[in-house]
Amino acid sequence: MKNTFDVAIIGGGINGSSIAYQLSKLGKKVVILEKGTLANEASSAAAGMLAAQAEMEHDGPFFQLALKSQAMFPSITNELLTYTGIDIEFVNKGMLKIAETEELATALKSQVLFQQNWDSGIQWLDATLVREMEPALAPTVAGAMFLPNDGHVQPAKLSLAFAKAAEHFGTEIRENTEVLSFIYENGVVKGVNTSAGAFYCEQVVVATGAWAADLMKNTGINLTVYPVKGECFSVKPNKPIVHRSIFSDKRCYFVPKRNGEIYIGATVVENTFDKQVTAGGIATLIEQAVKLIPQLKDAPWERVWAGIRPQTADGIPYIGEHPTIKGLFVAAGHYRNGILLSPLTGKLTAQLLTGQVEDEQFLSAFRIDRSQISIS
Ligand code: FAD
Ligand code: GLY
Repeated sequence: MKNTFDVAIIGGGINGSSIAYQLSKLGKKVVILEKGTLANEASSAAAGMLAAQAEMEHDGPFFQLALKSQAMFPSITNELLTYTGIDIEFVNKGMLKIAETEELATALKSQVLFQQNWDSGIQWLDATLVREMEPALAPTVAGAMFLPNDGHVQPAKLSLAFAKAAEHFGTEIRENTEVLSFIYENGVVKGVNTSAGAFYCEQVVVATGAWAADLMKNTGINLTVYPVKGECFSVKPNKPIVHRSIFSDKRCYFVPKRNGEIYIGATVVENTFDKQVTAGGIATLIEQAVKLIPQLKDAPWERVWAGIRPQTADGIPYIGEHPTIKGLFVAAGHYRNGILLSPLTGKLTAQLLTGQVEDEQFLSAFRIDRSQISIS
């Protein structure tokens, strides 16, 4: 029998699954085509921070995307629990973005003023107040910006919960099915060729994370998506050492999970799809981590892992339709923030496919033919 669907979503990571959830809730007949297994790439390697304000320092569509998506977490947590029984372990105790020097403290204080435009609860804490909140931090910490709404989740659970909720609304999931090429006629998509045969549909969404450029290159468009490896490790202290996420800079952060594990990440290694964890990468992380939280050196070791972040040339994800192939969409390139951005990515992509876009101008910032790409 022919495999016929309304929509084929390529990639069973967090974004593909979130899109499938939103579309199937609207009554679309959806299939997720995943070359490996669900959430086997970046979406299970992430630390799960919802760091809209710790990771972003300027206003613009990307920052607004992050804030709006962050605001969806309380309701998405409840929805997914209702439909799937999966608790995504949303923790909302906030985050400390710490300064290790007086110079960094000055820079962070001006960030506090900027970030207060969106959250009046954001405050600057001097060294004494920081250590009252997190006594395990080294005395060298000069102060911190407290971000009460930068929470975190268990990323693999969120990813699987989106997929299971999509299944609840009728989505079919085909694992071990690699999409090899698109089928299109007269500029209209008709389906995809896969390692398990052809699948026919009216619309296709490329949600293949760091692998998106490769799949798109034969469609006349060069997406600027490229891979950036991140390595992490975790420890599981016998009693809690830190109580909320601590973000030092983009190469060292701590995320205390509900099960007692502390995730510590992450290296930044550009232009590799190799997920090998290196001794050098973990050694650098341990050195930084123990400098900031000396007690960590006595914490029982748990595990190491790595994943591949999907970066783009301008640092902004692609969410949009192919400029010349009708029905072919991309939602990829979420780099360091794909977990945070997944609820809204699902919603906006569903709006695009159903012709129900609420804010065309906002969405156009993420279109796939913006200036940083070239069409060959
Ligand atoms: P992926 O999860 O990579 O999924 C893409 C899927 O497509 C894969 O399963 C792949 O197998 C499949 N695929 C590829 N090609 C094909 C094909 N041809 N056919 C079929 N299937 C295919 N984000 C946050 O918001 N907060 C964080 O704290 C955070 N921490 C991170 C820490 C690390 C170490 C890393 C590596 C990432 C982190 N991220 C974080 C980023 C986040 O993990 C990613 O942005 C997000 O997971 C991307 O999701 P995705 O669904 O777009 O891609
Ligand atoms: N957002 C954290 C990371 O990508 O390492």
